[in-house]
Amino acid sequence: MAQLWGGRFTRETDRLAYRFNASIGFDKRLLQQDIEGSIAHVTMLAKQGILLIGEKDRIVEGLTGIREDVACGRLQITEEYEDIHSFVEANLIARIGEVGKKLHTGRSRNDQVALDMRLYVRQEIVETDGLLKGFLEMLLSLMEEHLETYMPGFTHLQKAQPTTLAHHLGAYFEMFKRDRLRMRDIFKRMNFCPLGSGALAGTTYPLDRDYTAALMGFEGPALNSMDAVSDRDYLIEFLSALSTVMMHLSRFAEEVIVWNSNEYGFVEIDDTYSTGSSIMPQKKNPDIAELVRGKTGRVYGALMGILTTMKGLPLAYNKDMQEDKEGTFDAIDTVKDCLTLFGAMVGTMKFRKDVMARSAMEGFTNATDAADYLVGKGVPFRDAHGIIGQMVLYCIAQNKSIEELTLSELTSLSSAFGEDFYGAVSLKTCVEKRLTTGAPGVSAMQEVIERNRKYISQDQGIFEN
Ligand code: ARG
Repeated sequence: MAQLWGGRFTRETDRLAYRFNASIGFDKRLLQQDIEGSIAHVTMLAKQGILLIGEKDRIVEGLTGIREDVACGRLQITEEYEDIHSFVEANLIARIGEVGKKLHTGRSRNDQVALDMRLYVRQEIVETDGLLKGFLEMLLSLMEEHLETYMPGFTHLQKAQPTTLAHHLGAYFEMFKRDRLRMRDIFKRMNFCPLGSGALAGTTYPLDRDYTAALMGFEGPALNSMDAVSDRDYLIEFLSALSTVMMHLSRFAEEVIVWNSNEYGFVEIDDTYSTGSSIMPQKKNPDIAELVRGKTGRVYGALMGILTTMKGLPLAYNKDMQEDKEGTFDAIDTVKDCLTLFGAMVGTMKFRKDVMARSAMEGFTNATDAADYLVGKGVPFRDAHGIIGQMVLYCIAQNKSIEELTLSELTSLSSAFGEDFYGAVSLKTCVEKRLTTGAPGVSAMQEVIERNRKYISQDQGIFEN
């Protein structure tokens, strides 16, 4: 048990209490960030004359040595240290001797851990954004490919009006586009540096906080030291944005599961992304989609966890805040896996165009267009709605679709019907006539795809913006 704070104590910590308190099991993930922050800290200390240049150089050398040794497996991060900060400091002292003891000058683990976590999450925001971008690119190419792949559009999970696969996928495109905007917003708000806040009330050393902030690519230093060590807002915002990503993914997953069912048969999931049954030889299950839907719960859980942990905490740092890590790490890993796998699965899925088009023609999805036809012939819409309602009743009784009715059956319902009715309610016409911006008609979709292509190609990446 190597402890940084042993001086004031005369008796050993109880073993269980020690384990309960320790965070090394999960904060070992912050090694890179801890070392990066320490290098920036001592660089600033030397610039300010608080450390000699030679001392700084030896510390930096020691820190980079630790980083390399861990990377190649020569040095292991073990449970004998309380946390990653203790691990780094103890190993630094073991490596370079007395001068290593100067690393923690003008710093507390409170501002140190606040910095490490912020650096970690900042990088993860960028990576999540990158995965979202890849996901959008996959969607956009599918949209280009399926401009004329007809399918039913649903409300209440009942067939409503015909649309296209491009249009349906386009709805998800907009959702994940907003998810990227959220990443950008959060990045902007969180990109301030807590280092130099000390335990809570700053320090008496003449630190240059603007300088350390700039060294690590922050917009500037966080402006209140008590807030800086105890602010976890950015985690709440990030987990909320990740929860929204999962909500979008799970809606999409649910649709894939429905589309893949025997009853629908709209899609076939590639063998590489589906699994079989141990007992039923015929089965090919959409497990990836189901897991994505299921894992949404743990990401929401992480958000609820941190919100609850932070509730009612007095200023400034409290050990409760150590609970910010495991849930966040798990949520980040989960979302990254889900985006990667679900994206690959959708990108390789086969769409059964014939089944989708046939389904789009059933269920009277052209009833609105039939009413619109009558409006075109001068019948007021409300009357047209009533006439087509009767037509649907008649069709159900006769087991016919609208376009199967003979002209004399049509004219017995209204004298406004003519030969041109059949063209007006064909699947192709129903979709093609919908040309308002955001609608499924081919030229309307092409325009939207064009705009979204531009959005993706002009995209700068988070750091540049
Ligand atoms: N492991 C701690 C955490 O994650 C580091 C900060 C410890 N600070 C303290 N005052 N005990 O929050």
